Amino acid sequence: MGRNALIAGNWKLNLDHHEALHLIRDLGLRLNQLELSKVEVAVHPPFTDLRTVQTIVEGDKLPISLGAQHVSHHAKGAYTGEVSTTMLAKLKTQYVLVGHSERRALFGMDDQLVQQTAAAVIAEGMSAVICVGESAEEREAGEMTAVLERQTLAAVRGLPATAADAIVLAYEPVWAIGTGQAATAEDAQHAASFLRETLSSSLGKAAADSIRILYGGSVQPQNTEELLGGPDVDGVLVGGASLNGATFAEIVAAAVRCYG
Ligand code: PGA
Repeated sequence: MGRNALIAGNWKLNLDHHEALHLIRDLGLRLNQLELSKVEVAVHPPFTDLRTVQTIVEGDKLPISLGAQHVSHHAKGAYTGEVSTTMLAKLKTQYVLVGHSERRALFGMDDQLVQQTAAAVIAEGMSAVICVGESAEEREAGEMTAVLERQTLAAVRGLPATAADAIVLAYEPVWAIGTGQAATAEDAQHAASFLRETLSSSLGKAAADSIRILYGGSVQPQNTEELLGGPDVDGVLVGGASLNGATFAEIVAAAVRCYG
């Protein structure tokens, strides 16, 4: 399909800006030794680290794209504690995670808010990394595909096919996040293929074929190559293992082996 891989690190609520500076320098040195023409690397630090990371990435010309973990769907105004898409774009932020399961479960982000946020991110010229995934209970109840379909269709509702360039979909089964129990490569491919069909029903086949679909949940250097083996899996979203430069670079190296 000609889709390049995306390896994204979600730092969650970890690392102050000093620690971020050390990690990004270390990661940059390691990535500079890899051939990254078909593999893109992104990091999603906390808001307070973004300016620091941006400065190092630009100054040292590191092959790293900048991402955020969340953003407000409001443009400006009386929304205490929020950060806007314009503010992120000013820092050359390219990707924003939208609807991570932790935001859905812990901060009341529902399907409608996911849709409004994704639309705001795309309108600002950035890409939305829309996260979807079923819980263990939903999976046991046989509701996996229904949940994935509902979350995906809601997220892209109202978007034109031309928005495909600005959409990444991340399949993150909730039971695999932070548990050390990753999905199997077959499960990841099965879900990714279902998600591509779902995108196709809403945006059309050409758009769906161009959208990168990532797998996330307990990704490690050891399971990356296998997970990337599925034809519909175009990258990984990495939490815990992205907090160490050597480990994250090993994951990127595994992707380079797959993509050449
Ligand atoms: P994990 O987190 O790699 O620590 O399981 C993944 C995520 O939540 O994006």
